[in-house]
Amino acid sequence: MNAGTSRNAEVTPTTRWEADWWRSGVVYQIYPRSFADGNSDGVGDIAGITSRLPYLHKLGVDAVWLNPWYLSPLADGGYDVADYRQIDPRFGSLQDAEDLIKKAADMGIRVIVDIVPNHVSDQHPWFKAALASEPGSEERSRFWFHDGRDGDPTHMPTNWLSSFRGNTWTRTTNADGSPGQWYLHLFTPEQPDLNWNHPEVRTEHEEILKFWFDRGAAGVRVDSAVLIIKDPSLPDDPTLLDNPPPDASQPFVDLDEIHEVYQSWRTIADSYDPPRIIVGEVWLPDTNRFAAYLGSNEMHTAFNFDFMTRAWDPSELHSSITATLAAHAPVNAPATWVLSNHDVTRPVTRYGRTDTSFAFEKKRFGTPTDLVLGTRRARAAFLLCAALPGSLYIYQGDELGLPENEELPREVIEDPMYFRSEGVDPGRDGCRVPLPWEDDPKSNYGFSSEASSEQPWMPQPAWWGEYAVSRQEEDPQSMLWFYREALRLRREIEDFHGNDFEWCEDLPESCLGFRRGKVMCIVNFGQHEVPLLDLPILFSSEPVADSIGSDIAVWFTHRSTGEAGPKNKGV
Ligand code: NOJ
Repeated sequence: MNAGTSRNAEVTPTTRWEADWWRSGVVYQIYPRSFADGNSDGVGDIAGITSRLPYLHKLGVDAVWLNPWYLSPLADGGYDVADYRQIDPRFGSLQDAEDLIKKAADMGIRVIVDIVPNHVSDQHPWFKAALASEPGSEERSRFWFHDGRDGDPTHMPTNWLSSFRGNTWTRTTNADGSPGQWYLHLFTPEQPDLNWNHPEVRTEHEEILKFWFDRGAAGVRVDSAVLIIKDPSLPDDPTLLDNPPPDASQPFVDLDEIHEVYQSWRTIADSYDPPRIIVGEVWLPDTNRFAAYLGSNEMHTAFNFDFMTRAWDPSELHSSITATLAAHAPVNAPATWVLSNHDVTRPVTRYGRTDTSFAFEKKRFGTPTDLVLGTRRARAAFLLCAALPGSLYIYQGDELGLPENEELPREVIEDPMYFRSEGVDPGRDGCRVPLPWEDDPKSNYGFSSEASSEQPWMPQPAWWGEYAVSRQEEDPQSMLWFYREALRLRREIEDFHGNDFEWCEDLPESCLGFRRGKVMCIVNFGQHEVPLLDLPILFSSEPVADSIGSDIAVWFTHRSTGEAGPKNKGV
């Protein structure tokens, strides 16, 4: 079926409830503050999410992953948790959360919650107690409090740098106003790092897991999963030396002792019926170190950032897909395919640039972007991802083809990445703008449930209505229809569910192609059209006639193994 003729058939949830759903499932990421605002106060909330469950059901997702919804001062968008057992009142109540989990389950949608083990909010009772206690106290030992280095109280304990830029230590002030010890925060000072050598830190997190699993959460997404254990001798970071030794590693990244933590979590997850799942935020360049987090006794899956950050280029993506599949096979874990999330530039924007790769340190204001090109590539990229073996993640709004909003006035920016870079990095607010549901600015483009609502917490651009769900519902060529149809086919075609995967060789250099059983996916990244295969077309990212145009992906059905191979008309 071609791009223009999709039929968006009804979704039957019961077909999506197999035990191993996470091996090929589709997970939709919800940033609660920006998804839908049920009480019209300008902030997204659980009531809004609940009201939009039919939309998610129709889209055809197996699960949702919710960014943190816990009590939080929102110094880092909720990744500064003050209480894991309470929902932030701006988002609703614990009862609302439980109701959402139940209602979603009734529609065949599982809920994955976010767990942030590396740090808490500086408003967490543990940290408040630590600040109020003496150096060396039990209260302080749950964190990394330290005197200044080499007996110099003004000198930071280590040279470690934050991935949010800047230092990782903040000096405290004693009750009498004099300067006190330092404490460690790999992110902002409002996010003090926990000391995972403290047994209570471990048991507390195990209890938090049970708290949410008992309430029906289908799993957890583990934030900053590779950072939780630090070398307790607090050495300097050797990778920051002028000539770092080749085997230099950071004393707070991916320490071997981490694995016992997630293994104990897996035991807890497996003790539930059905077993709960663990998805890790594992940013590691070494695919073997990455795969060490996966398998039957540790995490079920982890985000494939290698793939997500690669340029729109056939050899780049070929090498990433090959390395990904090779790393996952020995641990019998499914790969994940991710085009974006709440931290990175939206795909239609990124793919519309000269440099289509992603790296935090490269983000700048005013990068020229061709959104028509970016959108065309984002459609092809989605079809490519949806055809690969493993699970698939969709960040809210990507199914609408939303661009990054790069027109945010500087005075509304909230993201600490912007401030810590002293305004050089635009930050991550541009992909967190409240979603457009209706083409009507009065209700914040349908984000808020009523017309007489408060302004949204982050302003929406004047052109937001063009992307509204209501507009796209009426247009079978829209990104929304395209996503639904791709997901429907992915669900219905058995060949997409297993692990079968074989590269198609002998394609032009500009193309990437592979077979999954009887389905074949071919993407043309080049400037020139390539002739079509003489095979039935299942679906394509743009309408195709006799050739595959630039930046188009096509799904074909090919003959079964044993029959004569495809008649190759040139591709
Ligand atoms: C990764 C999360 O995705 C990001 O949003 C957050 O700022 C950091 N971890 C710190 O929790």
